[in-house]
Amino acid sequence: MISKTTIDKVYETSRLEEVIGDFVQLKKAGTNFKGLSPFSDEKSPSFMVSPVKQIWKDFSSGKGGNVVAFLMEHEHFTYPEAIKYLAKKYNIEIEETERTDEQKEEANERESMYLVSEFAQEHFAEMAWESELGKAIGLSYFKERGFTDETIKKFKLGYCLDKWDGFTLAALDKGYKLSYLEKTGLTIVKEDTANPQNSRKFDRFKGRVMFPIHSMSGRVLGFGGRILTNDKKAAKYLNSPESDIYHKSKVLYGIYHAKQAIAKEDNCYLVEGYTDVIQLHQRGIHNVVASSGTALTSEQIRLINRLTKNITVLFDGDAAGLRASLRGIDLILEQGMNVKICTFPEGEDPDSFAKNNEFDAVVNYLKENGKDFIQFKASLLMKEAENDPIKRADTVRDIVQSISKIPDRIQKEIYIQECAQIMNISEAVLFNTLAQIGSKGDKEAAKQQKQEQKAFEVVKNQEIQEKVDVQYVLERKIIEQLLLYGKDVHTFEDLVLKENEEGDLILEPETLEVKVYEKIYLDLQDDEIELANEKFRVIYFKLIEELNEKEDFAINIFLANLEQETVSEISSILMEEEKYVLHNWGSKDIFPKEKNSVIAQLVSETILTLRCYLIKKRMETLQNKTIDSSENNKETLEEIMNYIHLNKLLNTKLNRVLA
Ligand code: CTP
Ligand code: MN
Repeated sequence: MISKTTIDKVYETSRLEEVIGDFVQLKKAGTNFKGLSPFSDEKSPSFMVSPVKQIWKDFSSGKGGNVVAFLMEHEHFTYPEAIKYLAKKYNIEIEETERTDEQKEEANERESMYLVSEFAQEHFAEMAWESELGKAIGLSYFKERGFTDETIKKFKLGYCLDKWDGFTLAALDKGYKLSYLEKTGLTIVKEDTANPQNSRKFDRFKGRVMFPIHSMSGRVLGFGGRILTNDKKAAKYLNSPESDIYHKSKVLYGIYHAKQAIAKEDNCYLVEGYTDVIQLHQRGIHNVVASSGTALTSEQIRLINRLTKNITVLFDGDAAGLRASLRGIDLILEQGMNVKICTFPEGEDPDSFAKNNEFDAVVNYLKENGKDFIQFKASLLMKEAENDPIKRADTVRDIVQSISKIPDRIQKEIYIQECAQIMNISEAVLFNTLAQIGSKGDKEAAKQQKQEQKAFEVVKNQEIQEKVDVQYVLERKIIEQLLLYGKDVHTFEDLVLKENEEGDLILEPETLEVKVYEKIYLDLQDDEIELANEKFRVIYFKLIEELNEKEDFAINIFLANLEQETVSEISSILMEEEKYVLHNWGSKDIFPKEKNSVIAQLVSETILTLRCYLIKKRMETLQNKTIDSSENNKETLEEIMNYIHLNKLLNTKLNRVLA
């Protein structure tokens, strides 16, 4: 784990505007920066960055947060990845905690494997670009396939010289340890147990053009190497073996270069090979990844699922291969994703198609030929089984099997209806088959139904919520004021009940110099008020605690230790006022001239309004109670009277504040 000191330091050092500036072109707008939203296609800027508050808000997508939230949203980093990225950017040394020696060693080992893989990537690229043989063989191969220099560089393609141990010797020479070369599979060691001195080392990828395989965050995990000769005995592609850093089932080729486009386009094209990815990418279609020849796994689908719910699988011609691949697609359905299938004309694959057609033609082809998976499968299988009743029965089962994987009950039903038409079979038969196929599907349907009921309850709650909107707004205001002015000392005026010379109770004005958070806390305590909104309540207590404990309160440090969801909530509270600036509604003058001078007033007003509101609500409930019940309600009436007094008092105070 990264130590808390490191995390705090990262937050203290990072400048949000600098970090975001690496990805989004920002222009100064008053005290803020604004730019085009990186999360949607827009023409006028609605993306705001506040250097003062160190938070950002994207008004077109509703997303917002601190520096880490930005990296998680934009780069799809995990939390630790984001911290590490920032640490690297600002040269902060990462301190790790709570690790056993064993864990440390393991982490070091993995890190060493990453480093040696990175060296290999550089070495292979250098060979392709610099060495005579590499240029003549490796580089020219890529160029023949139609890859531009820019593409070759972007995907860090390279060449491993046709020597037994050229790469291995270069790595050893640079000080990389043989054990890591072996563990990553870059070097194959042939032991001579009798004479360890005579053990021989070979480059695994000797004489192959190299495709580095990158993780979501861009680290080199392994390689695919393509042979250049027509040797029937040797595999066309050779891949890095499974290792502590390379798990074939968990990577998708191209994901690093595709992730942003996938999220932005809200769709992912899935192809089979390295060259399909590269060629489509070069053609301008960036949301594409490859399973690299292996059967698709759930983990790979999950990688995509983090970015979009929509997958379009691109198949090349051959019908037998197509039929075999259809099975794997059920795994995508299982994750509740929408699947489309797109096939190519006879003899073409995504690689050749992208190479031979212009951008618009490719985009249109993909759009027009992407067919809904279930419909596609039903039509395809039906055509094959047309005149064969037994095969037809199998086909029905096969289709329903796929449908049974879909978690959404309504979607399932719609598909049953559609397939009934396509296959010319009654819906009842299909529903029966669906029921037979497994209790698993039934259980899912039942679960689904429950979830829908829950969703309905949420809607009902929202209706109630709308009625108490005033309260919501006020509570939100309180959080905002705590965040912005919590530690500031202000002079508050209050009316205090006092006894005068005649012994009557009168209200006397009194001034009080306290910190804003103390004022808020004490006043709310007075009425034993707890914020009704759960999210606000949590934030409120955390804030009070922090303001009370810390000498200096800084929003970004405070946010650093909260969950991302809370951070996002707070950011949107803080960014509320920026919205006006953004839409140019307030050419400043709609804001109070000197906000500082009126803070005490604002705070008092907010608290008093909330207290009045709650009292009124309480009185209403009590009054309804007295009307509804015939029982002796002397106590209730007394309580109401008390509230009426309190309400009057508070209103007097409020009017004074507003005056
Ligand atoms: N593959 C593999 N091992 C093989 C053959 C294929 O790992 N022996 C993987 C590679 O990731 C390859 C993908 O399966 O990219 C698709 O295979 P294929 O269609 O044969 O390769 P292409 O990418 O079309 O290769 P090329 O166009 O270079 O012949
Ligand atoms: Mn090919």
